[in-house]
Amino acid sequence: MAIDFDIADPHRAEEGRRKIRWAARHMPVLTEIQAEFAATRPLAGRRIAASLHITTETAVLLGALRAGGAEIALCASNPLSTKDDVCAALVADLGIAVQAWHGEDLATYERHLEAVLATDPHLVVDDGADLIAALHQRAEIGSTVAGIEETTTGVVRVRALAGEGRLRFPVVGLNDTPTKRMFDNRYGTGQNTIDGILRATNTLIAGATFVVAGYGWCGRGIAARARGMGARVIVSEVDAVRALEAVMDGFEVLPMGDAAPLGDVFVTATGMSGVIRAEHLAAMKDGAMLANSGHFDVEVEVAELRRLAVSETETRENLTEFVLSDGRSLYLLAQGRLVGQVAAEASPAAIMDLSFAGLALSARYLLGQHSSLVAAVHEVPADIDSAIAERKLRALGVRLDVLDTRQVAYARSWTSGTLDASVA
Ligand code: NAI
Repeated sequence: MAIDFDIADPHRAEEGRRKIRWAARHMPVLTEIQAEFAATRPLAGRRIAASLHITTETAVLLGALRAGGAEIALCASNPLSTKDDVCAALVADLGIAVQAWHGEDLATYERHLEAVLATDPHLVVDDGADLIAALHQRAEIGSTVAGIEETTTGVVRVRALAGEGRLRFPVVGLNDTPTKRMFDNRYGTGQNTIDGILRATNTLIAGATFVVAGYGWCGRGIAARARGMGARVIVSEVDAVRALEAVMDGFEVLPMGDAAPLGDVFVTATGMSGVIRAEHLAAMKDGAMLANSGHFDVEVEVAELRRLAVSETETRENLTEFVLSDGRSLYLLAQGRLVGQVAAEASPAAIMDLSFAGLALSARYLLGQHSSLVAAVHEVPADIDSAIAERKLRALGVRLDVLDTRQVAYARSWTSGTLDASVA
């Protein structure tokens, strides 16, 4: 059957194929799951609609889901993170109905999203909740029985939907599981953010002042990596516990208003809107660089930057200079969209191995168990999470200690303390 696709250039499949093979080499857990899925076909006859960053790592994930028997339609989760060569390989090699190209405008983004939903999926796989939100604006949800949400911001959106009592099927909040956020958000985003900043600017990090907004999973990773490369790092936070953690991790913590005149490079990673606003832009140094790693392009108020500017010029790829009326220049990276996904290549395959192993196993779990789950945000079952960590450790050649029977008994006992209560 001919598949319905809409991509930039179908002739780039070989280019994409080579890069996907390279990513797969670093994804041993997912490769193992793919082999299992090929043998057991747990997704046979199921339609999956996915909105994801279309990268080589995503292609390896989709290979596993295809091996499991799923029919897949795919659109982007960000108009700038799509790799066109990967799209071509997904169509040619996996028969995936890809609807995306790099740099598509918002009308096209929406048309592609609608085309993917038109396949009447059983499962929706989302990164930012655009598919789930679009589906919930409809009178009918068709055959959809479950969803998976990949990122922090998406889980927040789905929880908001559930909070209004409007969520219509169970959704696994993949982001919140330890093998996802402790690794992907911290180490993956930490690295891809620095990578994106370097590719867009080639700036020297040693000795620069970085201001990191948000000390959550992503912010911790970004701050640690910037410090590791010799930057002075200032953190801004709105949560007292997170701010205290940043202080004890050795960072200076300041409100954005106080940090604005000090920073050379600003990075937002909050999932919140309006983190860098007009009053902050007004206080920044000439030459300051603004990058975002949060899911949506709402953290730096780009419209305000544009309003204050007398000119706007592309200085380099993914770097725009805004000259303000007082003569200062501020530089925006990647149009204020996720800098590591747009200016670099998103998180490394070795990290996405964990997130996407969780996603593949959650897909199998949900398609098998959805009828026993209520319409709410669910955690990834703990046995899936620990199985992923065990498989990754095995692939890395790392061995664990095992509790012996005496230790297991001790862990279950209430009698052993300073005194032995079983003696009395
Ligand atoms: P998180 O919830 O762990 O941390 C966010 C932190 O930002 C919280 O500590 C919160 O108190 C703080 N915050 C909120 N508003 C703030 C403000 N106005 N000023 C300063 N701090 C503020 O979330 P996580 O997992 O770190 O994710 C952050 C964002 O990054 C989300 O939008 C998420 O979807 C996105 N993300 C991006 C990835 C990438 O590769 N670039 C990968 C994973 C997540």
